[in-house]
Amino acid sequence: MKEKILDYLHKKHDYLSGDQISKHLGISRQGLWKHIQELKDLGYEIVAVPHLGYRLESCPDRLFAFEVNRCLHTKFIGKKIHYFDCLSSTMDLGMQLGMENAASGTAVLAESQIKGRGRLGRGWFSPKHKGIYFSLILRPKILPAACPILTLMSAVSICEAIKEVLGLDVQIKWPNDILIHNKKVAGILTEMNAEMDKVNFVVIGIGLNVNNDKKSLLAQATSLKQEQGQEINRVALLQEILRKIENNYFILENNGAQEIIRKWRNFTLTLGTRVKVDYQGKHVEGQAIDIDSDGALLIRKDSGLTQKVSSGDVSACR
Ligand code: BTN
Repeated sequence: MKEKILDYLHKKHDYLSGDQISKHLGISRQGLWKHIQELKDLGYEIVAVPHLGYRLESCPDRLFAFEVNRCLHTKFIGKKIHYFDCLSSTMDLGMQLGMENAASGTAVLAESQIKGRGRLGRGWFSPKHKGIYFSLILRPKILPAACPILTLMSAVSICEAIKEVLGLDVQIKWPNDILIHNKKVAGILTEMNAEMDKVNFVVIGIGLNVNNDKKSLLAQATSLKQEQGQEINRVALLQEILRKIENNYFILENNGAQEIIRKWRNFTLTLGTRVKVDYQGKHVEGQAIDIDSDGALLIRKDSGLTQKVSSGDVSACR
């Protein structure tokens, strides 16, 4: 009911009498008052003026599932959102829900994480209400070896959303670091549950530094607030990321990987540069010439031979 009251207050942008709201939603005046108090407790600023009624003045900076769902208009991504104030890691619950047959597109969202994890055993700093931390359960009909394309698809979606909502220029460092002015602003971690020739489900974890202040960031990291010079509306950005993921997921399903790779190339920082890639305790150095249809990086070594690397850590060489 709280969601319905909010929707109604949102739509009208003006005072609505208690009588009007109660009648519209079929609840008692007392019931309405109780819900309004609960909304105020959640941080909604709702003023009540005698003879005029209620008016929504402001919303809290929270990623409540009903806020993200409002006007989201996706077909399956984010239709079901599990929202938490704090979790160990959204990946853990995402994997668990995957095992419990959660629908494709289900999202797990947390305002903070105690053990947020990154690639290659690293952590992901997840301070409360500053970033966007979520995991998405997907059930693609592809082979396990093709799964890296989902990470590239997610990276492209994040870049498109940041560009569209904030107008910032974003780049991708292979395979999935999102950078602005050479500093990391977002990362993606993909985990899957699969058999030899069948993917049961994939969990894509996305972490973005959004409203983090400079002093809380590592030297090689940045936040959208730092780059934009003002606080960012996290709900609007998350909604756009979810929409872009759905759009690109459909493109992937209908047109195949090539279209996603073409988009990825538009955002790449890596291709055409000389790189060193650390992978599985080894490293290779050379010119990053392309990525293949599975998302693997192709490196032309000084010997002239081309080596393919499926995962690793890229650093730029001079
Ligand atoms: C990386 O760049 O190393 C990947 C970082 C992924 C972080 C996100 S935050 C939401 C989800 N939950 C986690 O524990 N990790 C991912």
